[in-house]
Amino acid sequence: MCCLTLSDNKPQMSDVSPKRWPWFWINSHREVLDLAFRLGLVGIITYYGVRWLVEALDPTQKQKKEAKKQAEDLMKKIGVDSSVKLSEYELSIASQLIVPSSLDVSWKDIGGLTDVCQEIRETVIYPLKNRELYKDSLLIGPPKGVLLYGPPGCGKTMLAKAIATDAGCRFINLQASSLTDKWYGESQKLASAVFSLAKKLHPTIIFIDEIDSFLRSRGTSDHEATAMMKAQFMTLWDGLISDKNTQIIVMGATNRPQDVDAAILRRMPTTFHIPMPNEIQRKSILNLLLEREKISEDIKLDEIAKQTNNYSGSDLKELCRNACMNTVKDHIRREDEGASTGELRAVTMRDMELGILIMDRMKNIITPLSSLPLD
Ligand SMILES: Nc1ncnc2c1ncn2[C@@H]1O[C@H](COP(=O)(O)OP(=O)(O)OP(=O)(O)O)[C@@H](O)[C@H]1O
Ligand SMILES: [Mg+2]
Repeated sequence: MCCLTLSDNKPQMSDVSPKRWPWFWINSHREVLDLAFRLGLVGIITYYGVRWLVEALDPTQKQKKEAKKQAEDLMKKIGVDSSVKLSEYELSIASQLIVPSSLDVSWKDIGGLTDVCQEIRETVIYPLKNRELYKDSLLIGPPKGVLLYGPPGCGKTMLAKAIATDAGCRFINLQASSLTDKWYGESQKLASAVFSLAKKLHPTIIFIDEIDSFLRSRGTSDHEATAMMKAQFMTLWDGLISDKNTQIIVMGATNRPQDVDAAILRRMPTTFHIPMPNEIQRKSILNLLLEREKISEDIKLDEIAKQTNNYSGSDLKELCRNACMNTVKDHIRREDEGASTGELRAVTMRDMELGILIMDRMKNIITPLSSLPLD
């Protein structure tokens, strides 16, 4: 009876003026609201707590964020339309896009490889730049796979840079490490993002330097995730080969073509051999390397080219660097004696010969080491 009286005394909505209805409603549901508020608060704290924990436990999280920011900056720099939307995986690959203007290599910086440069320009660059010419043809077009191979230090990476500068298309310098992820299946998603990104931005060149380390012959000792990633890569590449509307080239460079998986080699039918330079080529490389240096008139490039049999382009660069450094050493000595003229003297033939001596000694040390089995 008492309860009934109490409930009867409870103010009803109709007793309250319409202005005070919200307050009245809140007061009458206070307990429920309180509970909902607490539950919500616990939910939010749990959500952010778990997110923070996952981020703290994931060592690649920071790297991913940086890659995303870098990718967004790069996309702006290379002028990708802001309407192109990329997934998280594609953004992580996009951080490896190259801004051609940031590369300081062009065709004229490559010495002694005139024929190879010409061939690359005709078979790769020209079809990429002049799509309108052959839009109805089923056979004419840039190759889907290109392989640059040859001994170390002979200009393969340099050629790739010159291609990136000249091609006028997007250029992804794919690092194998960027495709590895500790979570199962993530590597495959990243591998597929390489191709989907290339498709969204096409025409694109996907460049894989030292391709032998990334796509080496598959074997039973391969980790399962690596084997799956390689298989995924090949399948996606096949899709690309059969697609006539997208212009994507996968380009690899290696000094160990024998280690590259046979199935990968099959997908790169256009190959360019970049051999050790011969005497004429060495002279042309020396000419380029010394172009901007102060050299004495007694330097005979023919003579140096003759004496540098078995030198790669990179060896010749090191030889010229050693010769030029001689002038710096001389300068320091003269400064110490108080006889400095205030500027470096010209590089002489003797400096070059000393450079050859140093390089020969270095090569003699390295050669026996390089003949040891790597493993
Ligand atoms: N043909 C060349 N003309 C001018 N410079 C060259 C040439 N070849 C090599 N060099 C010099 O040697 C350096 C190394 O060349 P590069 O990195 O292209 O060699 P690589 O063939 O890619 O070697 P690796 O197989 O070891 O990667 C270049 O930065 C360049 O200075
Ligand atoms: Mg290289």
